[in-house]
Amino acid sequence: MKHLLSPLDLSVNELNDLLDLADRIAADPKKFSKCCEGKKLATLFYEPSTRTRLSFEAAMLNLGGSVLGFSSADSSSAAKGESVSDTIRVISCYADICAMRHPKEGAPMVAASKSGIPVINAGDGGHQHPTQTLTDLMTIRALKGRLSNLTIGLCGDLKFGRTVHSLIESLARYTGIRFVLISPPELRVPDYIREDVLDEKHMEYKEVETLEEVMPELDILYMTRVQRERFFNEEDYVRMKDFYILDKAKMALAREDMLVLHPLPRVNEISVEVDDDPRAAYFKQAQYGVYVRMALILTLLEVETC
Ligand code: NCD
Repeated sequence: MKHLLSPLDLSVNELNDLLDLADRIAADPKKFSKCCEGKKLATLFYEPSTRTRLSFEAAMLNLGGSVLGFSSADSSSAAKGESVSDTIRVISCYADICAMRHPKEGAPMVAASKSGIPVINAGDGGHQHPTQTLTDLMTIRALKGRLSNLTIGLCGDLKFGRTVHSLIESLARYTGIRFVLISPPELRVPDYIREDVLDEKHMEYKEVETLEEVMPELDILYMTRVQRERFFNEEDYVRMKDFYILDKAKMALAREDMLVLHPLPRVNEISVEVDDDPRAAYFKQAQYGVYVRMALILTLLEVETC
């Protein structure tokens, strides 16, 4: 059985097939509206979410399947002390596939080892978020036409931002990728990303502290929120939360065809005045997230599509 726990669980070929399927779905979603009739998706969310949980549910409903689940640890038996391993053994009797978000890094891996159904990691602590990466890759491929030969700026909380870790790991498999890592010193990428991915694969990258100095060289700017819930104290969060604010003046320094992505939710890091800029792609990105999750469910359930 296949799970999606890390973005590297799919080979580059499998990933390209999945993105091709997502493009076919985007072109004609109705054609796929009965593919999962009789199938159930369980969403096991131990941490808050809007987009990820609802886009998974929308994806399964669009495929003609149904959904069940919980949206906070308080409303599940975790509140009574049940382990993730026990919960997944039970959910395996109720559903055909599940998406799990958990504040503890590695929880979906533990679940997968005891599961009778495919487990999708929908975000584990500050570690990984592979389905956001599928969304990001689909967006870049659709709007830029390629996943290679790109200079990608990642800005904000690169330490705790799990979407950043998964995106770097995935893009590092393509050729001609250059990373520009923009963060305050305290929020730089973790050592395992720098050593095991960037250095190990001899990636071209640099670490800078201001957005202005690098805006003109970027093909993509991936903005992120400072991850308040992962900070040990409120004081540090308050000091760093408004370190970067993308506004019209900074957008004026960028290329005409640079894309702005953001996994959302946004707090202050992108001023609303940027929303109308044709280069702002973050709401389109959310739409692609539904198509790519439809493609993922079909792939993991091994549903034949025409
Ligand atoms: C991200 C997450 O949960 O890591 N959100 C999402 O899934 N779209 C980013 C974030 O919360 O900042």
